[in-house]
Amino acid sequence: MTNYETHEHDVLVVGAGGAGLRAAIEASAQGMNVGLVSKSLLGKAHTVMAEGGVAAALGNVDPEDNWEVHFQDTMNGGKMMNNWRMAQLHAQEAPDRVRELQEWGAVFDRTKKGDILQRAFGGHKYKRLCHVGDRTGLEMIRTLQDQGVHRGFAVYMECAITKLIKDGDKVSGAFGYYREDGRYVLFKAKAIVLATGGVGKAFTVTSNSWEYTADGQGLAYDAGAELIDMEFVQFHPTGMVWPPGVRGILVTEGVRGEGGILTNSEGKRFMRDYLPEGTKDLFSADDEESKRWVEAAIAGLKTADRRPPELSTRDNVARAIYNEVKQGRGSPHGGVFLDISYQDPARVRKKLPSMYHQFKDLADVDITAGPMEVGPTMHYIMGGIRVDADTQMTQVPGLFAAGECSGGMHGANRLGGNSLSDLIVFGRLAGLGAAEYVKKLSVSPACANDQIEAAIQEMEEPFKKAENADAKNPYEVHKHLNQIMSTYVGIYRNEDDLKVGIQKLQELKKEVSKVATKGSKAYNPGWHMCRDLKNMMIASEAIALSALSRKESRGAHSREDFEKTDAELGKFNTAISKDGDSMKLEKTALPEMPADLKKLFVKKETANA
Ligand code: FUM
Repeated sequence: MTNYETHEHDVLVVGAGGAGLRAAIEASAQGMNVGLVSKSLLGKAHTVMAEGGVAAALGNVDPEDNWEVHFQDTMNGGKMMNNWRMAQLHAQEAPDRVRELQEWGAVFDRTKKGDILQRAFGGHKYKRLCHVGDRTGLEMIRTLQDQGVHRGFAVYMECAITKLIKDGDKVSGAFGYYREDGRYVLFKAKAIVLATGGVGKAFTVTSNSWEYTADGQGLAYDAGAELIDMEFVQFHPTGMVWPPGVRGILVTEGVRGEGGILTNSEGKRFMRDYLPEGTKDLFSADDEESKRWVEAAIAGLKTADRRPPELSTRDNVARAIYNEVKQGRGSPHGGVFLDISYQDPARVRKKLPSMYHQFKDLADVDITAGPMEVGPTMHYIMGGIRVDADTQMTQVPGLFAAGECSGGMHGANRLGGNSLSDLIVFGRLAGLGAAEYVKKLSVSPACANDQIEAAIQEMEEPFKKAENADAKNPYEVHKHLNQIMSTYVGIYRNEDDLKVGIQKLQELKKEVSKVATKGSKAYNPGWHMCRDLKNMMIASEAIALSALSRKESRGAHSREDFEKTDAELGKFNTAISKDGDSMKLEKTALPEMPADLKKLFVKKETANA
């Protein structure tokens, strides 16, 4: 029997970004013995890539704002595919969670009166994004980390979980290894919260860093939980496009929130041409009106409701940029221009310090003197593990999920800034849900040896296969996966492409079963990739199958062969589950919104775009 170390916790949180940290803080506050596992180093999380702000209806800048308008904007942005209860909890609780961060020491930018300053973002009717320059996610992580460290829970860094262990139908532990030296580890736990983030590394161009390999989605799927609405993948409109080594790195929506203008190679401000019918009235009619809006915002004065067209929702802006480039009106390196250099350089540096340094250091571009080149980058997945809205428990007893790896909250398209609020609202609810579950548990579930042994064998396999004649290099397989997803399951989809993509994924599965590595377990990234590929394959197949099944265009899911939104199809989630060795797809009814909330959608003026 191979050696492994063992730890025991009431609640184990897997993932140490915003959602994981907030869940661990809450479970700990509820008296639980908590362990927090981070695949990376503590503080290194995709949360920091939500730069421009955290959305919460505080009404500090636009006093008309309230949770109901935030709820309406979120549902409209998600094309009504959101789990209404999650969207309601999110809008109602986000202000308290932001104030709590302030109490815990987060240093937000301020209004002249000293309140938390809020900026505009796409799809939000009012200025709602509480921010710290363009480093909001970073400041949130720092604050949560400080708060967490003082709670005294155990932190396991550079530790990857490869298998969830179950006792009957209940989760009872998690098996994994330390990336640093390959040591195996078993965590016995009465409840587990998955907060592992997204799936970006399945795509070629992404804002996600190496950690985002669909771990939570893969682990939950294997353990019997459902994945919902995986077809809804968000391409953030503005990632860097040049130089090649930095392609995909995020350019915050905060640039457009502060008045950044998008133009094509002909110098045309094109976004007005792409506003969906029925939404044009929400945006300024011409450049003069947009200019007045920006001037008022800079002066800290109340702005008109009609925003500049660059503040349409992300799905529209990403499609617009994609089309401009495709039609030959792109920038030299295959993007478009984003310009904020017409503003006072000192203000640009103050409001967007990270963007200033990012472009100066990585691309030798001074954004106070000229435009940036930007293009879509895979940023976020709206779909994910199905959870109960109030407790965040999955369909597997004792298994919880929060943040990007869970599904339902954002429907077909997430509004910028709603991810940071999602993390703190649902991270807290998951920690609370897990603690409540543990308190009611009469017997601690056990971790059976055969499951642990199987988990060890799975990790040993890549070494055993190294000498096989048909052994595959995991990096080549990963590259192939990226090509398939980016070519056949990208911003625009159609039946033919999706079918080819699915066929290619099936063929790739055979290669994944042959991936191999040599050498020791210490610092062996090839070995890590062998395991990561399995989760990315699950997520990729789920995305492609779900995309094929949704025969309409809705939010971030754009079908060239079904360009319209179909009201009937909007009543169903796409649910993916494990059926033996196959993936099962079902259409399940969306929960019905109660009448008192439905009335909020009667008035046309609440529609956003
Ligand atoms: O553009 C941004 O700052 C990203 C925000 C988000 O994804 O919520």
